[in-house]
Amino acid sequence: MNLKNGVIRDLRELTESEMSETEFLRSVENNMIPMQQFFTYYKCAIMEIETKFRVLNEQFSINGESNPIEFIQSRIKSYGSIFRKIITKHIPRNIEAIENNISDIAGIRVVCSFVQDIYRLADCFLQQDDITLIEKKDYIQNPKPNGYRSLHLIVAVPIFLENEKRLVKAEVQLRTIAMDFWASLEHKLRYKKDLSPFKLDLLADEMKKCADQSAEWDRRMQEIKNIVESD
Ligand code: GTP
Ligand code: MG
Repeated sequence: MNLKNGVIRDLRELTESEMSETEFLRSVENNMIPMQQFFTYYKCAIMEIETKFRVLNEQFSINGESNPIEFIQSRIKSYGSIFRKIITKHIPRNIEAIENNISDIAGIRVVCSFVQDIYRLADCFLQQDDITLIEKKDYIQNPKPNGYRSLHLIVAVPIFLENEKRLVKAEVQLRTIAMDFWASLEHKLRYKKDLSPFKLDLLADEMKKCADQSAEWDRRMQEIKNIVESD
């Protein structure tokens, strides 16, 4: 089946009278192969990008410096999250539209030791001639109102297949351990949707204070590093 023609159908929208069990199974079967192929491209893009950061991490240590990367986490966006985005952003339900309109199907999070490592790694990565920068969002220079900080890069990376070269989009998030600590806990605390206005205000206020404190820690750690490394 031609991947471009693979259509994701909202099976939940179809009533029983509109689709028999056999039709349902056929539809799942028909969509399975193009969807698996689709996700494989993003898996390959993650492998390419992770390797680039691992190589940079090694190279920094050859130069006698400490490794700038603490850890890397990657994920493919779940089918459910893709589907929610299709609905909220009114994206047509075909693979081409999804490829064009959703940039974070492949997500790579690079957690660094110090703030300067983030910019240095991002510069080295973006200088590579097979990486195309599509969008940069610097939430470190300009944190979100709730205090969220990270550097986001939307890029396209080529993957080389048997008979073709494909450009695949991915979202790279670079952050320090402190930024990651805040974002992970904020994400967990936000899960409860039915909070009273009082609790919502308290949560927003406290999280903003914690974000400011963690930014201060990052600033001090960087300052200490600069002093330790100065001649
Ligand atoms: P999306 O449609 O959600 O991708 O919106 P966007 O394109 O404006 O995305 P943005 O670059 O602002 O953020 C995308 C990703 O960054 C999210 O999926 C999260 O992983 C992370 N992120 C952004 N804002 C926050 C936040 O306030 N808290 C936490 N914990 N993570 C955030
Ligand atoms: Mg996004």
